[in-house]
Order: sequence, then C-alpha cells, then structure tokens
Amino acid sequence: MADMMWAGRFSKQVDETVNAFNSSIAFDGRMYKHDIQGSIAHATMLGDCGIIPKEDSLEIIRGLEEILADIESGKLALDPEAEDIHMFIEAELTKRLGDVGKRLHTARSRNDQVAVDIRLYLRDEIDEIYALVKELAVTLLNMAKEHTETIMPGYTHLQRAQPITFAHHLMAYVWMLLRDLDRLSDTKRRMNLCPLGSGALAGTTYKTNRRQTAELLGFDAPMPNSLDGVSDRDFCVELNCALSLIMTHLSRLSEEIIMWCSWEFKFVELDDAFATGSSIMPQKKNPDVTELIRGKTGRVNGDLVTLLSMLKGLPLAYNKDMQEDKEAIFDAVDNVKLCVKTFIPMLSTMRVLKDNMRNAAAKGFINATDCADYLVKKGMPFRDAYKITGTLVAQCIEKGLTLETLPIEDYRAMTNLFDEDVYDAISLDTCVRERKSEGGPSPEAVKLQIAEAEKALGL
Ligand code: ARG
Repeated sequence: MADMMWAGRFSKQVDETVNAFNSSIAFDGRMYKHDIQGSIAHATMLGDCGIIPKEDSLEIIRGLEEILADIESGKLALDPEAEDIHMFIEAELTKRLGDVGKRLHTARSRNDQVAVDIRLYLRDEIDEIYALVKELAVTLLNMAKEHTETIMPGYTHLQRAQPITFAHHLMAYVWMLLRDLDRLSDTKRRMNLCPLGSGALAGTTYKTNRRQTAELLGFDAPMPNSLDGVSDRDFCVELNCALSLIMTHLSRLSEEIIMWCSWEFKFVELDDAFATGSSIMPQKKNPDVTELIRGKTGRVNGDLVTLLSMLKGLPLAYNKDMQEDKEAIFDAVDNVKLCVKTFIPMLSTMRVLKDNMRNAAAKGFINATDCADYLVKKGMPFRDAYKITGTLVAQCIEKGLTLETLPIEDYRAMTNLFDEDVYDAISLDTCVRERKSEGGPSPEAVKLQIAEAEKALGL
C-alpha cells in the first residue's frame, strides 16, 4: 500500500480494511473539478502574498490545470485506493512537479479544503436544479394556459367538493414550484461564503488573504469564524430541505396523476412512452414514473434525516462523521434531477381527457354551495339556505336526480325564493365563471394569476 501523506508520526502502515473503510474517493471523486478550482485560488493567493515563491505558485496552477484536463480527457483515472479526492490530486501534483507540488498545502487543511469543495460543487448543482425546476414550472404554466375552460371537480377529503378548472389545479403547483425556486436561491445566497483559510480549525499564522480566495472563487465574503468555517454543514441540510419540498410537490402531483390514470377517474392518459406494462396482465398500463417519484421522495427525506442525525451530536470542529454528508446530499441532488428530468416530458405528453373531467364535475352535487348562495343572494341567511339545499340534495339522491334535473316544483316546495333562473345559477359553467374572487378558478381569475406567475418566472 502506498505511504500516506500524513505517515510521519506512524510506525505502521494503515490496515487494508481501515483504508478501504476510510476512503471517500468513490463518492467525493465527483468533486475533482471543484477541488482543483479551490486549489488554484489557494495557490494564487499563496503566491500573491509571498507565502510561497511566485514561480512555484504559477507552476502549481499550471500543474493543476493539466491534471484537470487529463481527468476530463480520460487520460488520468482517479485511483480508487486513494484516501479521498483531495489527497489524490495533491499526490498527483507532487508526482508531476516534485517539491514544488508539496508547497500547495501550505496554510491549508483538508478541513477547510473539503468545506470549500462541497460549497463550490453544490453551488453548481443548485444552478442546474434551479433551471430544471423552472422548466417544470413553465411546462405546467403552458398546460394551464390551454385549460382555463376545462372544468373538473375540486376535492376535499377526496370527495367532490366544488367545481374548478384544470388550469386552476395546475397553477397551484406552479406556485409551489415558484416557492421552491425561491428557496433554492435563498440557500445558495446563504451558503455563498468561503471557508477557505479556516485551516484545520484555528486559522493560520501565515499572512493569508482570505478575501482574495473568496473573491477568486465567486463567494460573497470569507466565513467570519474559522471553527464555524470547517464545521458548518447547515447549507447541506438547508439544500436537502429545499430538495425534500421539491420532491414533496412532485410526489403530490404524482399521486394525483396515479389516481387520474385509473379507470375510476380516467382524467388523463399517459403517453405510451411514459408508461409501462405488466409481465402477466396484458391489459395493464402502469404509471411507474409517478410511482417511482413518490417512492424516491422517501429516499430524499431519508437523506435529510441522515444529515441532521450526523450533525446533531458533533462537537466543534471537524469530525470524520462529516464525511457522511456527501453521499446523503449527492443522493438527494441526483435523485431530484432525475425525477424532474423525467417528469417534464411525461407531463407535456400526457393526454387530458376533458370530457371525463367535466362528467365527473357534473356528478356529486358540487354545485350545492352555489344553490345555497343563490338563496343568499335573494336575501336568505346562509345557514338557512345551507339547510334547504341539503334537504334538496337528499331528495335528489332519493329520486336519482341531480340539482340540475330536479323539477322547479320541488325547489319551490322548499321556498318560493326559487325561480327558473336557479338552473342557470347552478349550471357548471356559471359556477366556475362566477368564482372570480382573486385566486379563484374562473377563467378570468386564472388568466390573471397566469400572468402574475409568468412575471415571477421572468417570461
Ligand atoms: N474526506 C474527508 C471528508 O470528506 C476530507 C476531510 C478529511 N479531514 C481530516 N481531518 N481527516 O470529510
């Protein structure tokens, strides 16, 4: 086994099992670009501050750039035996430059190095996830634009409640995603401080310039406390919270789509390219994508619990437990990207079965509130109107009728405030058209919120 860089004070080589157990390169190898980016900033600062000779700093930077190019071209493979990505790159640099390479780690520890790497890595991931979630929001918004007149039942307790439109329903998700975008930006803003220069925990005696490295790496400022600089993983937790909420939103919509695909609802039909069959039942067309999204939501929530549990008992500053942060947050990031990427084309190819939505809205007495409101508008107190309408609904159920088909005599037997115009007042179209309160489902009101959401999305 290769000598460890820290082998000086040890009389034995590390046991094979411990090396394999300790090693994180299998999962932190993906941060190679960010590790090199951090090291280039550090080397630049060391040279500028005269902590190492300027020529050495330039040589180190060139060496790091070559290593990056070689990893990217496939010429240099990551060594699975290496302890982690930081050690691998530093060892490779020293292999190439000799003594000059050994100067890179002056005034730095792997503790501030790893902290800066994760921030740089997650900052890029946040940008990618932001773009994907935005694309999803735009997809839903465009679908909403086509369905401002598509009437469907709105539900509470999964019981048909009041009529809405499909556009209104979809826009509810657009607003959730807009909040998700806001949370991603907020997380990125709070995490955009630079831990580099915190050293192992207690800063350094060298005259470093932390502002320079922070600026070179695009951070807003250095972290104000070196202990916090190396031990803070709040940003991983915050990001995972934001990701868990994104998944929660995808999962709720997935659950609805799963129901809507069933023969019991038949409100939508998935494109054949986004559904799967059964190995035994020839008639089946299953909504696997949505079910998997619902399932993966639990997994992303699990990542959040991993991070919170990993941190809760840790004394300051760095502890090896913190190496566990990466697999959790990377898993959350990977799965959210995978889910959103699959969800977008699945939604945009989904067929909306408007007639079935409308037929469902025509059943279940979802215009009963409107019937009561009809009486209220003629002067009756709401509670009395509510009671009368309830009685009428019971009569309809007994006679196998709907409020639309109940004869006017039955209405007038309850109160002579009822006239022929009640039929228009309780027609589905009226019920939806007249719900124009701000944020309501009327086509007019929904078009206003679509315009507002377009503005928020910068469209
Ligand atoms: N692989 C380690 C991690 O991910 C890097 C930091 C190691 N620091 C140390 N003092 N052992 O956390």
